[in-house]
Amino acid sequence: MAYQIEVVDLTTLPPANGILSLREQAYYQTLRFPKRRTEWLGGRVALKRVVARQLCLSDLAQIEILPQENGKPQLLVEQKPLTLAHSITHSHDFAVAAVSGESALLGIDLEKITHRIEAWKRDFFHPNELTSDGDDFLTALWTQKEALVKLLGTGLSLRSKEVCCVGGKPQFFGRALELYNELGHPPITVVTERWPSGYMLSVAFSAAREIS
Ligand SMILES: CC(C)(COP(=O)(O)OP(=O)(O)OC[C@H]1O[C@@H](n2cnc3c(N)ncnc32)[C@H](O)[C@@H]1OP(=O)(O)O)[C@@H](O)C(=O)NCCC(=O)NCCS
Repeated sequence: MAYQIEVVDLTTLPPANGILSLREQAYYQTLRFPKRRTEWLGGRVALKRVVARQLCLSDLAQIEILPQENGKPQLLVEQKPLTLAHSITHSHDFAVAAVSGESALLGIDLEKITHRIEAWKRDFFHPNELTSDGDDFLTALWTQKEALVKLLGTGLSLRSKEVCCVGGKPQFFGRALELYNELGHPPITVVTERWPSGYMLSVAFSAAREIS
């Protein structure tokens, strides 16, 4: 398997004690909004479980997932940075995390399928991407874009039309293309499924990269 995935139901989260390290607990205490606390903790539970499985670790608190300035979390074990590719997403009742190998690139996105207005479509998608219509298609397309943004690791610094996905194939423009080239323009696979029920989940994955 190229990557492993863990899904956590945010309505039945275990208590933070025993899961978070001291540094994570300190950060967790700064989060004021209950929704943000739940999704932040859920993402950590999901990623820690999947990393623990991959590395055969039993103590989740020895794995740390600390926020960085650009939003992309850093993964550490016993305070040493781990270079495994990883990604977190949350939407409504679920948090999902994925982890892969050291030379891989990975981004995931989960979205609840909802109806969006025409202006949203115009604002975020290039006309070439809109090869179909309907809530399932547009939600899937959105998750593909977000998974690709996370794979590139930049977060909000990109414009949504610089990262496109046409028929499941990524296309990069402008700053996104520069970043993609800096990564050695690796082949990227985007897999989208309607799962869990009522949600779309996309995984953008590249097995290996050659930094130019
Ligand atoms: C990073 C981004 C994709 C967040 O997506 P989102 O759908 O709002 O939220 P998700 O729940 O799917 O993902 C959030 C997680 O992404 C991860 N993340 C944040 N910044 C990241 C980055 N720069 N690179 C990789 N992962 C990042 C974090 O783990 C975060 O969870 P945490 O803060 O609890 O650890 C960001 O682009 C964003 O906020 N987009 C908002 C909408 C937008 O304009 N999109 C443009 C699409 S091209």
